[in-house]
Amino acid sequence: MYDALDRNLQHELLRLKRQGLYKVPERVIRGRAPDNRVYLEGFEGAFIRANSNDYLQLSQHPKLIAAAEQATATYGLGPGAVRFIDGTFSPHAALEKALAKFMNYPAACIFNSAYAANLSLISALQTPDTFWISDALNHNSLIRGLRMAGVQKDQKAIYLHGDLQDLEAKILNVSQKFKRICILTDGVFSMRGDVAPLASIQILAEHYSSQFEEGICVVVDDSHGIGAYGPLGQGTLAYTHTRSAIVVGTLGKALGVNGGFVLGSPTLIEFLKQKGDTYIYTNPISPAEAAAALAAVELLGQAAGQQSLLQLEHRRLQFRKGLSLESIPGPHPIVPILTRASKKSIRLVEYLFRQGILATALSFPVVPKNESCVRIQLHAGMSEADIAYMLEQINQFKN
Ligand SMILES: Cc1ncc(COP(=O)(O)O)c(C=O)c1O
Repeated sequence: MYDALDRNLQHELLRLKRQGLYKVPERVIRGRAPDNRVYLEGFEGAFIRANSNDYLQLSQHPKLIAAAEQATATYGLGPGAVRFIDGTFSPHAALEKALAKFMNYPAACIFNSAYAANLSLISALQTPDTFWISDALNHNSLIRGLRMAGVQKDQKAIYLHGDLQDLEAKILNVSQKFKRICILTDGVFSMRGDVAPLASIQILAEHYSSQFEEGICVVVDDSHGIGAYGPLGQGTLAYTHTRSAIVVGTLGKALGVNGGFVLGSPTLIEFLKQKGDTYIYTNPISPAEAAAALAAVELLGQAAGQQSLLQLEHRRLQFRKGLSLESIPGPHPIVPILTRASKKSIRLVEYLFRQGILATALSFPVVPKNESCVRIQLHAGMSEADIAYMLEQINQFKN
């Protein structure tokens, strides 16, 4: 019955393989090893995990685990319904308040992922009178969000990555028939660890805002930034001393759990709760996840959280200082090693794997053609000796 469909799909899969877009088989983590390492199914020994977004290692923090267990005992596992049909539990409501307070925004709304948050945000804000301007290296959820919201080709422009001149040119090029512009940018760009020039983007937006009836609004997706770096762990906005109208974040990276959120005005948040498809028609994160994320946010506000951030910053400085291969500068624990050739990236990752280090090879079209790299993600659970070991292995790599 499925033969014809399967034949067609096999054909597509072959095409992906030929184009070099086929993903390698997924590895399976079978357990946690001592010293923040992991064991993999089918392999001996423990691996240093330099390919995870769990920057502060909060996914294993006893306070988060206890909060999840307590919430499960109190509320059960699944939410049982979407938010507006009695799927909202106390931890969901408390988490929204805590996220808004932590980031100094008036209101917050949680989604089951940052990806889902972006889809709802863009489709809820999309109107025929809205023009979208997006950084060329933005995350797939923003790109796909624009497509899924039905944004037409003449309703959007892509500016060169981080290029303020090009952004200004794109703003100046917007037809006066549009009433509002939304600028979309990642805070930290996950493939490179570099940071959007948010302060300058905000200045440009404010400068030209009065030319459009509904102004220019900047949306920052700081999924890799919030909780990972910046003063108090508040990410790229704090790092660049900027405030944007709308912020998107994830609970599934530095905060160690799962889920996403949007921060903004109380009106925006109410609007999303009324109009966001991925808010209305799909279950929220579980009460346990919400309680654990709440514990993560609370921890960041305490000495222990700040200590982890400091520890991570020390490790990042040690790694940056000792790295003798080419990289892209950046203040974030993502450190790309530029090999500029996809085969070399793959060889480096395989070599590191043999040395017990997990890292990620990134090639075109995920990164620009001449920027093939190996992405190293540092975390606060790495010791000084771990960093020294990684540096020794990486620096001695010869093609
Ligand atoms: C900028 C950005 N936005 C959104 C996401 C998706 O996050 P989530 O896993 O919460 O959907 C990512 C994750 O890679 C990201 O880097």
